[in-house]
Amino acid sequence: MTKKALITGVTGQDGSYLSELLLEKGYEVHGIVRRTSTSNIERVAHLSTALRLHYGDVTEVSRLMLLLQQIQPDEVYHLASQSDVRASFDQPEFTGEVTGMGTTRILEAIRLVDLDCRVYQASSSEMFGASLPPQNESTPFWPRSPYAAAKTYAYWVARNYREAHGMFVANGIMFNHESPRRGMTFVTRKITHAVARIKAGYDRKLYLGNLDAVRDWGYAKEYVEAMWLMLQADKPSDYVVATGTAYTVRDFAEHAFGYVGLDWREFVRFDDRYLRPTEVDSLIGDPSKTAAELGWKSKVLMPELASLMVEEDLRIVNAQRAE
Ligand code: NAP
Ligand code: GDD
Repeated sequence: MTKKALITGVTGQDGSYLSELLLEKGYEVHGIVRRTSTSNIERVAHLSTALRLHYGDVTEVSRLMLLLQQIQPDEVYHLASQSDVRASFDQPEFTGEVTGMGTTRILEAIRLVDLDCRVYQASSSEMFGASLPPQNESTPFWPRSPYAAAKTYAYWVARNYREAHGMFVANGIMFNHESPRRGMTFVTRKITHAVARIKAGYDRKLYLGNLDAVRDWGYAKEYVEAMWLMLQADKPSDYVVATGTAYTVRDFAEHAFGYVGLDWREFVRFDDRYLRPTEVDSLIGDPSKTAAELGWKSKVLMPELASLMVEEDLRIVNAQRAE
């Protein structure tokens, strides 16, 4: 029997890599796409013949129920979210609706249609917030943004559906993961895209906020494999997914500019618009449980990640120049 998967947030960075992975594994893959006035399917356009896309939104439970009933997925990967931490300070209520309540809606929809399926909840290392590193599955949560608070709510809702209703729901507590498909507002892609534009002569400066923030950056393509592994386990649990390595935003900039032979200090300038009312200073994950129970381990670390992202942005900028 062909397995069926439903992905919310299929048009995002992770949704696109996960779609590729599941299609490779022979799944019938369905995705929920928001209706927008301009196209939002660029990241999955190359999969358009294989992928089955449906209009929907995690703020509309009736639509979720209908789709679940029609598709009858074996696995649901709930990735949809307002995922920009800085933006969550400007839109706290909307972030709560989508990032927090969206999880309740998808779980309740599954329960109401009485579907026997396994669910992945896209939890986040942002939940640890001000708790000191290294962070693992037992580290207390201390959310520092409306986004982190919404994800913490969603995490506990996922746990509660597991405990109260016996549903198979796994929380992947993922640390920052990046790729050439990363949204342009996140700091890594903002840097690598700027490097490519500066190298091509289009821009002269890059404005950033807090360069001292420490993150544990991994490669998104590898992280979606951990999502899948969580839903193949004997029983549902919560897993930290991280590399265990630590770099500052400054380190990332140094590597990205250095890759094309530039000195970051000549181009990066400070702009307080990119500071946050409350910052998360240091996230460094301890992925030992995930390694021991799921056999997952990251391979690509920050220097290689920065290089492969710059490489792809150089290709994009040069292709635009050729047009
Ligand atoms: P992303 O690129 O921002 O993708 C988010 C996805 O959610 C997009 O497909 C977006 O659709 C969709 N979406 C937003 N609001 C929606 C709504 N109301 N209804 C339906 N879909 C909606 O995020 P990502 O990096 O792939 O991350 C995937 C998930 O993992 C998110 O939940 C994120 O919060 C979480 N997470 C990410 C990281 C990371 O480092 N990347 C780490 C921990 C957790 P549009 O394309 O139309 O905008
Ligand atoms: N976005 C951005 N833009 N961040 C900047 C900038 C800038 O110009 N300058 C410095 N930073 C710092 C931020 O203050 C933060 O400390 C760090 O760079 C990383 O910011 P982001 O790339 O925006 O990611 P994030 O860590 O806030 O959140 C991402 O990772 C979470 C997992 O830990 C997102 O993908 C979240 O959705 C995810 O849950």
